Amino acid sequence: MTVKKNFAWTLGGPLPRIEAHSERKLEVLRRYLDVYFDTVASIPHMDCLKIAIVDGFCGGGKYQRGEETIPGSPLIILDAVRDAQERLNRDRRKPFEIAASFHFVDDEPDHIEHLRGVIEAAGYADKLGSTIHLYPGKFAEHLPTIMAKISDRQRAGRSIFLLDQWGYLDVPMASIRAIFGKLTRAEVLLTFSIDALLNYLSTDRKASATLAQFGVDREFISMWEANKSDIDFSRITAQRAVMSHLRNNSQALFFTPFMLFSQASGRMMMFAHLSQHQTARDKMLGVHWDFQNRFTHIGRGSLFELGFDARLLEDKGSLFRFTELDRETMMGELREELPDKVLGMLGAGPISLGELMAVLGNQTAARNTDIFSVLQTLAAERVLEIVSKEGREKRPTTALKISDRLAMPRQKTFWFGSKG
Ligand SMILES: C[S@@+](CC[C@H](N)C(=O)[O-])C[C@H]1O[C@@H](n2cnc3c(N)ncnc32)[C@H](O)[C@@H]1O
Repeated sequence: MTVKKNFAWTLGGPLPRIEAHSERKLEVLRRYLDVYFDTVASIPHMDCLKIAIVDGFCGGGKYQRGEETIPGSPLIILDAVRDAQERLNRDRRKPFEIAASFHFVDDEPDHIEHLRGVIEAAGYADKLGSTIHLYPGKFAEHLPTIMAKISDRQRAGRSIFLLDQWGYLDVPMASIRAIFGKLTRAEVLLTFSIDALLNYLSTDRKASATLAQFGVDREFISMWEANKSDIDFSRITAQRAVMSHLRNNSQALFFTPFMLFSQASGRMMMFAHLSQHQTARDKMLGVHWDFQNRFTHIGRGSLFELGFDARLLEDKGSLFRFTELDRETMMGELREELPDKVLGMLGAGPISLGELMAVLGNQTAARNTDIFSVLQTLAAERVLEIVSKEGREKRPTTALKISDRLAMPRQKTFWFGSKG
């Protein structure tokens, strides 16, 4: 991809100005890293965290915002690790070490050189070449080397990949699949400009192998053609189709695809989180809820389908914004919909909450605590039963654990399906 003129770093040149949705994205990145380190440090007996953080589209490291300069993603990553190391050791008797390696890639050599200067000025010069590695060139081409370095250092491949491309074509699906195929503890934060893809479709509608990797094939384009007179509807369904394709083909078990929304520009950009662990999904959703109004999702937050969901015909245009009001609506819908869904799953025998979340995780904006609270209400009404993994019935007031199990109630209560 060619460098956008107003978005380039040159040595000695003016810094690019940051756009509102990019600023929101960086805030989310910082918050997620803080939550990530806090969560890992709370695991009993964990006193050294080996991790690799890869910024595959790192840019030049700083932006101009009015009179001040603000850090770009590589500096945010370095500062988050330094601050976590300090914060987590404040009240600990046994020290906690974050043994992090950093891999920063950018296709523009000028951006990499600019970043080198920013890293030195920020006090990390001694780490360049030892734990901080800079790679001029394309992310997809450097990925095999970076993955090999990660696997050499740690078998689980604990890593976070920030893949912050400009458009939608620079992160090939094959790269995402390679990451999840090889590194069991990898997480990916992916930006994907669905708006740019839709703009492309409204000007040029040629199918190509590059587009087909995201599900934009001949069939998709004829669907788009058939619906394009209803702009909102075709936009929403195209968005959902791309998301569902990404989810189904990434090899990641969990995919939170919410849209980052900039009130200032009115623009939306998908900022997806992909991971293999439901805790990671839950923590990322927690960040969405903390940052009300920065994320949006079209349609309902309770239980939704990516791809075509007939309910979008009614919901279309209605935005879910992770506000308190959205939460109330979501909880009401979950109370209506979860019994059928869960009882349907219990037909083949009891399941754990972990197994339930593996199924529901990609279909809801609800955090684990939201789902658990509805399940506790259902248990109190004897619609279902919750037992500990040792088989003891849980009291309605005891906090649920992911290892707890759901079962049909021993004394059968008849459930007449969704009300209303
Ligand atoms: C959106 S900017 C990144 C901003 C940065 N993540 C931040 O938040 O500060 C995208 C960057 O990707 C670089 N780039 C474009 N195509 C690339 C590719 N195929 N591989 C690696 N970098 C690429 C561009 O030069 C640009 O610096």
